[in-house]
Amino acid sequence: MKLLITGGAGFIGSNFIRYWLEQHSEDRIVNLDALTYAGNLENLKGLDESRHSFIQGDVRNPEDVSRAMDDVDVVVHFAAESHVDRSIDGGRVFLETNVIGTFNLLEEVRRRENQIKRFHHISTDEVFGSLSLDEPRRFDERSPHDARSPYSASKVAAEHLVRAYCHTHNLPFTISNCSNNYGPYHHPEKLIPLMITRALRDEPLPVYGDGLNIRDWIHVADHCRGIEAILLRGKEGETYCLGGDSEVPNIEVVKSILRHLGKPESLISYVEDRKGHDRRYAIDSSKAQRELGWQPQYSFEAGLQDTINWYLANRSWWEPLLAKN
Ligand SMILES: NC(=O)c1ccc[n+]([C@@H]2O[C@H](COP(=O)([O-])OP(=O)(O)OC[C@H]3O[C@@H](n4cnc5c(N)ncnc54)[C@H](O)[C@@H]3O)[C@@H](O)[C@H]2O)c1
Repeated sequence: MKLLITGGAGFIGSNFIRYWLEQHSEDRIVNLDALTYAGNLENLKGLDESRHSFIQGDVRNPEDVSRAMDDVDVVVHFAAESHVDRSIDGGRVFLETNVIGTFNLLEEVRRRENQIKRFHHISTDEVFGSLSLDEPRRFDERSPHDARSPYSASKVAAEHLVRAYCHTHNLPFTISNCSNNYGPYHHPEKLIPLMITRALRDEPLPVYGDGLNIRDWIHVADHCRGIEAILLRGKEGETYCLGGDSEVPNIEVVKSILRHLGKPESLISYVEDRKGHDRRYAIDSSKAQRELGWQPQYSFEAGLQDTINWYLANRSWWEPLLAKN
């Protein structure tokens, strides 16, 4: 089988490519990535070039998309602008990449009629909006969309396009909504690697607002296994929520990192809250557990320890990224 992975030079896409090539020794992957600030060829180092080919190209460009889809059986669409803070500073590229880029891929799938056996769209739990700290409710596949940042609005729009296009043109699709990922190759602009890399340099750790916002953390390896389960056992036309069963307040994430690294809590610096900051995300993944036989394997503490060890062992990966910002 040949898979087209979009955004495969980013955090989750590159982890997925490594995982898939290890698990599926007959398969080949073509990776279409524009190499924005978030894309990094270092994430792909050491991959077997006879089974992984890289195309530098842009999902906003229909010709790049068409070129990448030759001989492909399955598309897994990760490519996106992914950082909420950047979407607050300027939303246009989020609409262009996340919405028009998804549209271009769907157009190409449609043009190729029976060639593509599955279009899997990677979405996020952020499309469901925000939960309060004191309610037991979690998001699941029936939760309504309630985007609250330009990023999540662009992901909602993309999801609607996938469903509408595939319904209209009878295309085989699946969608996953995943909670916050962490693990190796995560760009240091995001919470966990930001805190690890700053703590390692004894720099202040900026915590938004009161630090009590909760995210449901999932190790990227568990996310990759979840996508695999959907591709192999998921039903066409279905959506699956994937979560880590690990709700942790941001301030506890930061304190755990300091504890693991033996650094003082005096490094914590509370800063002005993010505009429109969602209070809590939590995912109920019982549908994926029941129907796909998938469940997250990492506890947050074990996954965090592994992740910290990876950043300790891979300074040469992340230090150049800090110099670029
Ligand atoms: N990181 C998370 O916690 C999380 C959680 C749920 C869902 N998601 C979704 O997973 C996907 C991947 O997220 P990530 O954290 O790996 O993001 P990332 O920012 O690390 O990687 C995105 C990749 O897409 C590429 N890209 C950006 N614009 C492009 C374009 N116009 N054309 C081609 N390539 C382009 C970038 O170069 C980069 O390699 C996204 O769709 C995101 O919405 C992420």
